[in-house]
Amino acid sequence: MPQSGSLRILRNLLPRHKRKTPPSPADEIQFGQTQTDHMLICDYLPAKGGWQVPEIVPYAPFQLTPDSVVFHYGQEVFEGLKAYRDSVQPDQIYFFRPEQNARRFANSALRLGMQPVPEDIFLKCIHELVAVEKDWVLESPASLYIRPTLIGMDTGVSYRASLAYRLFVIVSPAKNYYKRETGVSVFIERQHVRAVPGGSGEAKCGGNYAAALPALQRARALGAEQVLWLDGLERKFVEEVGAMNIMFVYGDKIITPSLTGSILPGVTRSSIIQLARHLGFTMEEKRIDIGEVLTDIAKGTLTEVFGCGTAAVISPVTELLDGDSRIEVNKGKVGPVAMKLKKELIDIQFGRAPDTFGWRTLLASQ
Ligand SMILES: Cc1ncc(COP(=O)(O)O)c(C=O)c1O
Repeated sequence: MPQSGSLRILRNLLPRHKRKTPPSPADEIQFGQTQTDHMLICDYLPAKGGWQVPEIVPYAPFQLTPDSVVFHYGQEVFEGLKAYRDSVQPDQIYFFRPEQNARRFANSALRLGMQPVPEDIFLKCIHELVAVEKDWVLESPASLYIRPTLIGMDTGVSYRASLAYRLFVIVSPAKNYYKRETGVSVFIERQHVRAVPGGSGEAKCGGNYAAALPALQRARALGAEQVLWLDGLERKFVEEVGAMNIMFVYGDKIITPSLTGSILPGVTRSSIIQLARHLGFTMEEKRIDIGEVLTDIAKGTLTEVFGCGTAAVISPVTELLDGDSRIEVNKGKVGPVAMKLKKELIDIQFGRAPDTFGWRTLLASQ
């Protein structure tokens, strides 16, 4: 629940007849492609006393001058979380651990020398925007993806941190992240690195994703969906995979790379760690050598690999591409552990299983 219940938010909404009709959960929904009717904007203007009153306005382009800091020095951070319609009481909408996103958003901003959005303002803004767009929170298996973004707005191309910032939040209906739900193929990137110790790897900033694109292009050219990143120093320890954290299953033991500072601390990762322990798995966070991963797949002791993140929840990895070799994981099949964890987590998110860990937050203003 947002603490600043009294924070005022202005609503300048489209008349009903000008609003679009949300898709049906049965429709094909391309991830992130359809924005809803409204967005939220909240500026930080030191000359006007700091954070201004957030406004929910019709979704539309907004103007920035070409010399804005965001375009030149990359002061941009973002978040990704979802709102879920309860499967048992469909009039209720929930967020999943949104305070984690609020905190990570602030940490990302600080890492880029930006003005962090106070966590209570962040939470209040997403509650209000989702309340306005509640008809777009489709029923399971669909949900509403929320993309808060913060940019540096000062003008002038001299290199420095911006003093003024814009927070904007857009939302889009989401269903399956990948076209194929059968398991993804992942390319082990050995040329570029995503992050280094002391760098910005644990911040969710656009720059990290931009510098990762050539590797994604190489991966796609080979038919893989995602890139598996190795550490920046020794280039042998597994870090993460595309926009997901990664986990390896050895029977009833699951291991995942420890958070070294160059990995994004995923909300899904932390939830799976708790959930897996609760379900009786042994869960270990450690440095994981890619050489050992490949040996263990060959030996048959490593039984499953999966990525985890908000967008795709859990994505089984059924193939690794390493140079010219294609290595099947679990004989190219989706494994039972990934499927079990996915079902357990989704059932909590949609209210079909008890919220044992207190992860859900009811939409405050409906
Ligand atoms: C680089 C990266 N790693 C991991 C994740 C998973 O994080 P979360 O579970 O919070 O979505 C994401 C997605 O946000 C990501 O972009």
